[in-house]
Amino acid sequence: MSRIRSTRRKFLRNTGAAATAALFSGPLLDALGITGDAFAAVVRPNLKNLTATSSTIVSLKKGIQAMINLPSSNPLNWNNFANIHGIGPTPPPTSPASPLWSTCQHGSWWFLPWHRMYLFFFERAIQKLSGDMTFALPFWDYTDPTQRQIPSMYRTPTTGNVLFIPQRNATLNAGGQLPASAVDTSVAFSFTNFTGPTGTSSSFGSQQLNAPNHGASPHGRLESTPHDSVHSVIGGFMGSFGTAARDPLFWAHHANIDRLWDVWLTMGGGRRDPNNSTWCNQAFSFPDAQASTQGSTVAKRVSQVINALPQLGYSYQGVSAVPAQSCPTQSLGNVVATDLTKMTIMTGSGKQALREVPTLVRIPVPKPAAKRALAARALVLRLEGVEVTAPPGILYEVYVGLPSGTKADPTLPNYVGNLAPFGADMHMGEFTAAFRVSDQLKKIINAEGGNIDVTFVPRGPIDPSGQEVVKLEGSVTFERARLVEE
Ligand code: C2O
Repeated sequence: MSRIRSTRRKFLRNTGAAATAALFSGPLLDALGITGDAFAAVVRPNLKNLTATSSTIVSLKKGIQAMINLPSSNPLNWNNFANIHGIGPTPPPTSPASPLWSTCQHGSWWFLPWHRMYLFFFERAIQKLSGDMTFALPFWDYTDPTQRQIPSMYRTPTTGNVLFIPQRNATLNAGGQLPASAVDTSVAFSFTNFTGPTGTSSSFGSQQLNAPNHGASPHGRLESTPHDSVHSVIGGFMGSFGTAARDPLFWAHHANIDRLWDVWLTMGGGRRDPNNSTWCNQAFSFPDAQASTQGSTVAKRVSQVINALPQLGYSYQGVSAVPAQSCPTQSLGNVVATDLTKMTIMTGSGKQALREVPTLVRIPVPKPAAKRALAARALVLRLEGVEVTAPPGILYEVYVGLPSGTKADPTLPNYVGNLAPFGADMHMGEFTAAFRVSDQLKKIINAEGGNIDVTFVPRGPIDPSGQEVVKLEGSVTFERARLVEE
């Protein structure tokens, strides 16, 4: 932490920013178990207020170009830094594999803190390599209905612009808009629990695990939407773990996901980070551009990043003060693994293929299963063995019990979330998507049984003339559906 402090002290001195910047010193830092000098915090800006000539964008481009120009032996080289997220499928890395590579955390409660650290070290790399130590990562707030287009500086010009990547959905690169359901935070924000039992996705910040895992599933609700949904619809590099961070848009997308974590904490209602030592004590490593040996590896624990402003020196434009988070002072032992077999009420439906048109999958519920389901406190529908042959480039809105003839609309109570299998193409074990379906199911079955009708509605971007463009790349299938009692 001493580096960032001295850096930001310099920033204070050089810019005379003391009057406008938030200042952190002694008492607040001590309360959080950190000691050190005061530093001035940066505010990560909303891309809406920036143009190609804003200093943030000029520095970002300069820093990215510098990373691209670094030799492939340097851990801060652009592709090497992207390999930390995931390697491949193509093109293969040019330098010997590093233990830092392919370490992104998905489908677990470390999804948010791991990506927060990754962003933080990226921001430090851009600061250092652009020479602009006041640089703060901009965020793309696609949850604002006026910002559903890819920010213009990432699309145009298409030559001589490091922010432009041709490997994206063509409609979006041409100024089309993300579909509304890709950026809908209402399901995620409705969960007041950060985490939940292993095997379900009924939490804001993904399931509990005892150890880091690069490719766990199911994903949590914020991770699924907007996170996975935006990755899936943008497609190209963004559609796969192994290439996502090669698209500069990745950083603007993830700054927004990190911001939504802060927004969720400000919503109250019991929302807070896990008060759990397994979560808090986990450390992850990254190359630090501002270490005394540039690019040497630095580790951070989750407990060191849960309070972004006092610990990492940034906040987000437009987000009110985030309540302070804390970690337990004692180890609480491992989390209890759940037994999926015991939770299972029934499995149904054989292999199903999803297409470019809405697909209805009917799962008959026998009488004994119906009885147990009606008595369950909470129900989760798991779609197991999801396989994609390529990043699909679209998402599926998932509805349970949608009355026939009703136009699919995510504002309907039958909407349970999106299937956007980001990561399924990497084949790191079976990919499962899961949805809480308690309210929907209890309306469509009774003690005699019934049918679970699941409707999958494909969604793609809206082109500049207002037409939706749904183009499925490869195929999407799942092996079986499983209804579990949470
Ligand atoms: Cu690790 Cu948006 O991905």
